[in-house]
Amino acid sequence: MPCKVVVGGFWGDEGKGKIISYLALRDKVDIGVRGGVGPNAGHTVQFEGKTYKLRMIPSIFINEKARLLIGAGVLVNPKIFLEEINQTGCKNRICLDPNCVIIEDKHIQKDKSSSHLSKQIGTTGTGTGPCNVDRVKRIAKTAKDIPELKDFLVDVAFEVNKAVDEGKDVLVEGTQGTFLSLYHGTYPFCTSKDVTASSICADVGLGPKKIDEVLVVFKAYITRVGGGPLPGELSQEEAEKLGWVEVATVTGRKRRVAPFNVDLAKRAVMLNSASQIAITKLDVLFPSCKGIKKYAELPDEAKNFIKNIENSIGVPITLIGTGPGVYDIIDLEKSGRISPVIKR
Ligand code: IMP
Ligand code: MG
Repeated sequence: MPCKVVVGGFWGDEGKGKIISYLALRDKVDIGVRGGVGPNAGHTVQFEGKTYKLRMIPSIFINEKARLLIGAGVLVNPKIFLEEINQTGCKNRICLDPNCVIIEDKHIQKDKSSSHLSKQIGTTGTGTGPCNVDRVKRIAKTAKDIPELKDFLVDVAFEVNKAVDEGKDVLVEGTQGTFLSLYHGTYPFCTSKDVTASSICADVGLGPKKIDEVLVVFKAYITRVGGGPLPGELSQEEAEKLGWVEVATVTGRKRRVAPFNVDLAKRAVMLNSASQIAITKLDVLFPSCKGIKKYAELPDEAKNFIKNIENSIGVPITLIGTGPGVYDIIDLEKSGRISPVIKR
């Protein structure tokens, strides 16, 4: 599929990194381009025995042929960007847009020292909110002001649009999750900009008619870090009993936990105009699913869980994660069924 955008359906940490890295290896992806807020994101990619925790570099980097880009809408912390280039060895194929705005130490200090941001909202403390404030005030530095970034600058919108027009395979990578959106999320308990598919595309300079597929990623249960409502929230003891406790990639905080919520998922599908759904961590919900790669081999309770989501929402589930590794996945898109809702 020439142009696909991948977004999170709940409050982030749905497993986008894992899904994107699988697509990176399955598809002939020419360009992986990152939209979203900035280094408040943490995408975990496990590949060939290594675990990468990425905050700036597109998760698609494990496809060594893919060109890697960061769209103008994204906030860049140059230190993290350069460190991750070293960690992933992708120096010769990554670029960013000259209009990306730069996170400075003062933004991080403001994020951490404001009790409204750090305590009430519970931000990641990475400076993204205060940096977006300066961006709106039109006083922020951009990537073209930073000598260390000089060799990485490219007109990302032009490159991405040209690739789509030439029929190349472009994967647009979103960050955070739908209900962290500044517009459609649980305001004021949200991030500092919209993060639904439309904005992720705007971040990289792609208009709505250029997009062929919108893949929304849900985890088989819900987690959230920071303040704000979480329908059906479980106590930490209940979560521990179920084995659903997670620790946040960027902040090291314990994530709050709730069971999967079909109504929220339906709303996320609407807000993103999703054409496909991926469900991750099915093996955490049903441990006997671990490592399964064929739908037919799933236990009935897991199949019922999947079918119930599809039937309620009416959008096909195309990928099902069954473990942390890139290839721990059931790929229903590859198996080529046309109407999964009817067929299963
Ligand atoms: P900020 O984006 O750092 O300003 O944080 C605002 C809210 O969004 C807080 O509740 C954070 O925990 C949450 N948040 C931001 N980025 C992520 C993410 O990538 N995963 C999960 N939560 C996030
Ligand atoms: Mg994360």
